Amino acid sequence: MLNFDFHNPTHIAFGEGRVADLDRLVPAQARVLILVGGASAEKNGTLAEVRQALGARTHATFSGIEPNPSYETALRAVQQVREGSFDFLLAVGGGSVIDAVKFIAAAVHIEGDPWSILEKRGRNIARAMPFGAVLTLPATGSEMNNGSVITHRAKGAKLPFSSAHCFPRFAVLDPTKTYTLPPQQLANGVVDAFVHTTEQYLTYPVNALVQDRFAEGILQTLVEVGPRILAAPEPVYADRANMMWTATLALNGLIGAGVPQDWATHMIGHELTALHGIDHARTLAIVLPALLNDRRESKRAKLLQYAERVWGLREGDEEARISAAIERTRAFFESLGVPTRLGAYGLGAEHVDAVVAQLEAHGMVKLGEQRDITPEVARRILLAAL
Ligand code: NZQ
Ligand code: ZN
Repeated sequence: MLNFDFHNPTHIAFGEGRVADLDRLVPAQARVLILVGGASAEKNGTLAEVRQALGARTHATFSGIEPNPSYETALRAVQQVREGSFDFLLAVGGGSVIDAVKFIAAAVHIEGDPWSILEKRGRNIARAMPFGAVLTLPATGSEMNNGSVITHRAKGAKLPFSSAHCFPRFAVLDPTKTYTLPPQQLANGVVDAFVHTTEQYLTYPVNALVQDRFAEGILQTLVEVGPRILAAPEPVYADRANMMWTATLALNGLIGAGVPQDWATHMIGHELTALHGIDHARTLAIVLPALLNDRRESKRAKLLQYAERVWGLREGDEEARISAAIERTRAFFESLGVPTRLGAYGLGAEHVDAVVAQLEAHGMVKLGEQRDITPEVARRILLAAL
């Protein structure tokens, strides 16, 4: 096992009805700015419930944070925080709203150009405003981690940052808040959580026994509940609860402690979203199977373990078992209604060079746990994903 630090300060309030606990979780004297995305939180009543729970506290609402939250919109929120002297932020939504709030919390205190937060990947963050989250979409794990991904629309750049100052103080996880999600977002959540897990698991063995078994448990749970959630005519609480907690555990630092991490699928995927607006999870479904196939030598031992423990593949020689595991992964994504080929999104070989050029422009030239996914390898992976 590799050396590691693990510290996760986020208080989780899990279960039906827990939005009412905001009264306990948000400081009594706080001046709260609630931040939401489009219309969903208003339409399904979550926003009204949040406002009621805040009781007599001074509060206002900033709405309009887009999926793949933009730098430009986040800066408008920073201005509202300053003008209204708010001292606590409350994200109500999915990963996009929570990510934007992390950026806003840090940008309020940054000296100079706030874009430097992205350029320096968060290393220049010395402090951030306190914030909490009410999660409505299980997918990203943003509710219990310190990472965020922000898109500069004018630059066409989608970049990540992280900081020890950007953990939510708390996250309310009420599975019933996911009942209004459309099938596309439910499927996205399953795929995103699945790929967060493979990014921290499908690397090379370091004898991290419990991290491996946690990761395999997360993958198996997603394979079990994902299809059931999509097929159910009415939402089933138990499945939504399992999905919600599983997605959080996939990226709260636990399974990534003491193990090598990949993240190349995410970095290539971010460029596809920035250039072509494809949903985050869908970019991962495109890249992952092709990447695993390309990296089958360096990932051999873990791919064989994955084949056996997650998919129960024990027959045939090593190459056949690895190929079958990759095919099962692809078929799983497709079964959720998430296409795994660039062509399904209207993209062809002529679009690949621009994606590779963006990776180079962002310094993403040595990706993967072995740092061997160069622009040339990324090109090969994308061409294999056509
Ligand atoms: O904007 P509204 O109207 O709220 O609608 C949203 C949005 O259109 C809708 N939605 C959310 N909750 C709903 C709902 N609709 C009905 N009922 C509900 N309960 O869903 C749409 C997508 O929301 P979004 O927040 O964009 O989705 P997601 O949670 O998948 O977040 C994706 C973003 O997170 C980043 C991605 O790059 C992307 O920008 N990621 C953040 C990570 C992190 N911080 O650790 C890790 C991930 O790898 C990921 O990169
Ligand atoms: Zn992701």
